[in-house]
Amino acid sequence: MDLILPQLDLPVGRIPDPAPNGAERAKPVRGRPVHLSGYQREGQDFYATPAWVTEALLKRVRLRGPVWEPCCGDGAMARVLAEHGLDVVSTDIADRGFGEAGVDFLDCLTVPRGCRSIVTNPPYGDSGSHEGQSRSPTAMRKFLSHALMLTAQVDGQLALLVRLQWIAGRFVAEAMSAAPFSAVIVLTRRIRWFDMAEKTNHAQHHHAWVVFDHAHPPGQPPALLYG
Ligand SMILES: C[S@@+](CC[C@H](N)C(=O)[O-])C[C@H]1O[C@@H](n2cnc3c(N)ncnc32)[C@H](O)[C@@H]1O
Repeated sequence: MDLILPQLDLPVGRIPDPAPNGAERAKPVRGRPVHLSGYQREGQDFYATPAWVTEALLKRVRLRGPVWEPCCGDGAMARVLAEHGLDVVSTDIADRGFGEAGVDFLDCLTVPRGCRSIVTNPPYGDSGSHEGQSRSPTAMRKFLSHALMLTAQVDGQLALLVRLQWIAGRFVAEAMSAAPFSAVIVLTRRIRWFDMAEKTNHAQHHHAWVVFDHAHPPGQPPALLYG
């Protein structure tokens, strides 16, 4: 694990193109057409992550870029990644006014061309950010498996923001043990989620970044870090 951060100065908010000649925007390969029904701009699984949370990851892990933020929402995470000098490809199933809309992560068969890391705050309620949010362990398991499959193709990294308690689940323990689990960064501050208006909760839960790295030496236990 390396604490050195890249210092490139990228414009914030655009979708940088990791293609060397800039001629073509990198896109993930999709398995089938995307249907957007049921996902509105104000969909239930949207809640923006405060900047300090992404900064806590960047302070602890040197990400190999370009980075794909596949559930970018309004760009809250992608902007911070870009501010720290990383090229970022931002996509979302819904149109939230940032990145490329209409890309279902679960339908993608590869990462966008050139990308070597995936960083996101997944949907499915594992952040427990607001009342009435669906909690689907099955969906989250599928998301994790899919993200690991995609990053394995490029010997890449995967960083997911999850509720700390999620790590203790039986399936998750098995999945983590089988995967190249390289670090957990426990956030000692509780997250107050943005943008959920009256449904925003009051920072009841602790969260953590779980980091996988397909270049992590087999058999080496994950690092326990605090952020
Ligand atoms: C919890 S929000 C996180 C937004 C952003 N990553 C952040 O941390 O600020 C989850 C986002 O995932 C998107 N999403 C849900 N299911 C998705 C899917 N199958 N593929 C891509 N994006 C999805 C939602 O539209 C929403 O914007």
